[in-house]
Amino acid sequence: MPTYNLSVNEKKYAINADAQMPLLWVIRDIVGLTGTKYGCGIAQCGACTVHLNGAPIRSCSFPISAVEGQPVTTIEGISSNNTHPVQKAWIAEQVPQCGYCQSGQIMSAVALLKTNAHPTDADIDAAMQGNICRCGTYPRIRKAIKRAAGIPFKTNTHGNQ
Ligand code: FES
Ligand code: FES
Repeated sequence: MPTYNLSVNEKKYAINADAQMPLLWVIRDIVGLTGTKYGCGIAQCGACTVHLNGAPIRSCSFPISAVEGQPVTTIEGISSNNTHPVQKAWIAEQVPQCGYCQSGQIMSAVALLKTNAHPTDADIDAAMQGNICRCGTYPRIRKAIKRAAGIPFKTNTHGNQ
């Protein structure tokens, strides 16, 4: 089996794996970081989103052979103690419901704000459209992204809807 050199959250790994093994499998089963979730397995839901070279990718659909030598960042790598501005905004807006999709949502949001510090609603919708939430937390996700970006937003009388 070939050996692939991977950098995950700035730590180096030499991984023995089949060339076609999805990056998601490597992250969860070999590296042991389980914050990244398996949803659909076919690049349709966004639950498995991580960053490759700083850009969001669906790790279920990238074989290890295609990512070798490139830096990967997972949800565990964006801050050491959940203090990334996006994580703080997620907590302030109480975004998660069941939580399953949320690490992928956060990784997409972090990538968006890196390239667009003040996104419009349309920018947010475009960047987040590939991240599906079966619990329907989309309005709170949008508010949390705006909070992290320092963009004013309206709060209705029922709280975080
Ligand atoms: S598990 Fe990768 S996009 Fe759904
Ligand atoms: S919070 Fe449940 S799937 Fe998004």
